[in-house]
Amino acid sequence: MSVVVFLGSDSDFDVIEEGLEVLKQFGVPVRLEVSSAHRSPERTARLVRETEAEGAQVFIAVAGKAAHLAGVMAAHTVRPVIGVPVDSAALAGLDALLSTVQMPKGIPVATMGLGKMGGTNAALLAVQILSLGDPGLRDKLLAHRSRLAAQVEAASAKLRSKL
Ligand code: RP5
Repeated sequence: MSVVVFLGSDSDFDVIEEGLEVLKQFGVPVRLEVSSAHRSPERTARLVRETEAEGAQVFIAVAGKAAHLAGVMAAHTVRPVIGVPVDSAALAGLDALLSTVQMPKGIPVATMGLGKMGGTNAALLAVQILSLGDPGLRDKLLAHRSRLAAQVEAASAKLRSKL
């Protein structure tokens, strides 16, 4: 696997569902685990160390509320860790956003935006990191950007046609 995705709870799955589809479309091998920083701390540390030793290159952490999963994972690896704060109901995700983004100096976490948007961007950022050593992935990213630009043009044309 190149990318390892940890969810703090199975209830976080919908936040990363589209991101997993993105990784699949880019042909990136993924391992998915549920592991909590506070409910299963030993499992979390062990899995990060084991998967890094097995070749994981990028980690994605999806967690809500007092979301310390990404930071704990980052403490156990020197590979890049991308944090996705879950937009759970209580504080609309502000709790998870601040918990994930405000890593003290020395142990960085690349923090995405809230919820599903962040999950999808986490996958794309992981692909971008992997593309540093993979020209084929870079070509696929460029094709993806072209498709996005074409969608903007199509949306513009559709609105113009209403005038
Ligand atoms: C966090 O608490 C998880 O990442 C999840 O977002 C939140 C709630 O978890 P559950 O109570 O639904 O398992 O640790």
